[in-house]
Amino acid sequence: MIVRELKPKVYSLSAIDWDRKLFDELVPLPEGTSYNAYLVVGSEKTALIDTVHPSMSDDLIKALKGMGLARLDYIVSNHAEADHSGSIPALLAEFPEARVLANVKCRSLLKSALDLPAEALTLIQDEQVISLGDKSLRFMWVPWVHWPDTTITYLAEDRIAFTCDFLGAHLATSDLYASDEARVERAALTYYAEIMMPYRPNVNKHLKRLEGIDIGMIAPSHGPVYARPDFILSLYRRWAGDETQPQVLIPYLSMYESTAKMVAYLVDRLMEKGLSVQPFNVVDLDSGRFASALVEASTIVFASPTVLDGPHPAMAYAAYLANALRPKTKYAAIIGSYGWGTGMPESLTALLPNLKVAWLDAVNTGGAPQTDDFAALDRLADDIRAVNLGQEIVISLDRS
Ligand code: FEO
Repeated sequence: MIVRELKPKVYSLSAIDWDRKLFDELVPLPEGTSYNAYLVVGSEKTALIDTVHPSMSDDLIKALKGMGLARLDYIVSNHAEADHSGSIPALLAEFPEARVLANVKCRSLLKSALDLPAEALTLIQDEQVISLGDKSLRFMWVPWVHWPDTTITYLAEDRIAFTCDFLGAHLATSDLYASDEARVERAALTYYAEIMMPYRPNVNKHLKRLEGIDIGMIAPSHGPVYARPDFILSLYRRWAGDETQPQVLIPYLSMYESTAKMVAYLVDRLMEKGLSVQPFNVVDLDSGRFASALVEASTIVFASPTVLDGPHPAMAYAAYLANALRPKTKYAAIIGSYGWGTGMPESLTALLPNLKVAWLDAVNTGGAPQTDDFAALDRLADDIRAVNLGQEIVISLDRS
C-alpha cells in the first residue's frame, strides 16, 4: 500500500485488490476493486476515515506506522460493511486510544459484526461537526443508498467529501484520480446499477442535499478519487433521474430456435424503426453487464422458451435480478414459445412486481413462429416505437 497526498495533511491509503473476481460471492469484479481509507491530520487530532478489507489490515497498519503515526484519535466509520470496517479491530489493537465514530445504525451494525467494546464507540449525529484543530469533519447521514447506515464525511477546509460506497466504482487502478474518465464511467455505471439503483429515490434525495455543499473533490471508498466532482455527480443525476433513453433491452435465450427467431425478427423491426436495441443472452448471465444495461433502457422485452409451463430458469434468474434492481424502465413485454403449456408470460410477469411499467401485449407462440406470430411481433414493434415517441396506444389482452 502506498500513501498518497490529496491535500496538505490529507492522505489516501488505498488497498488495491487487483485479483478479486467476485464481491459477496455475487457481484463480478472484472477489473478488481480497491478499499480506500483516508487519513486527515489536524493540528490537534488525527482521524482515519474508513478502513480497508480485513484481509488487508496489516498493509494499512504498516502504512500508518510508516508515516510515523504514533496516535490515532478517531476512526470514522462511514459504513459498517466489512470491506470498510473490517480492519477496525486490528486498528484498535494497534491504537487503543482511538474512538470509533459512527451513527446510531452503523454503531449497532458494528457492534453485532465486530464485537467491539462499547467504550470504543462514540455516536455521531447528522450534521455534527468535530474539530481536529485546523481541520474539521462534518457528518451527513445518507441512509439507504445501499445499507441503512451510510454517512458522508465532509472536510470543509479542503472541500473534500468522503462518500464511502456512494459514488464509488469497483476498479483496481494505479491512478489516484479518475483521469481515464471513460473507463471510470463504465465501472461506476456497473457499480451504481448493482448497488445503488434499487434505492434510486434516496440517491436523488442525497444528490440534492450535496448540491448545497461546496465540494472540490469526492473521495469514495472504492475506486479512484474525483478531482472533478461534477463528472460523477452529473452521471449520477442522469442515471438516477426519472428520464429513460429510447433503448430496448431484450434479455433472451432459446432452446430450439423458436424464441431466437422471434428475437431476431423483433430486433430487425425495431432497428428499422430507428430504435436502439440490445439483445442480451442470459445463459451464463453476466450480471454486471446486465445490470448496467437496465439503468437507462425505456423498454425491456423478456424473451423466453417455456420450461414446465414457466420461464426457463436462466430467464427466471434474469427476471429476479431485474426485479431486485428496480430499474426505471417504463415499458415491458414478454415474448416466447411453448410446446404444450401456455402459462409462461403470466408466471414470468409474476416475478417482476417491482417493475413499474406499462405491459405491452405478450406474444407467445406454440412451437416455431408462424405468419400470425410475426404479425404480432410487427404490432409489438409498432407499439414500442409509439410509446417511445410518447404516443398513446391501446393495450388489449387479445388482438387475434
Ligand atoms: Fe463497499 Fe457496502 O461496502
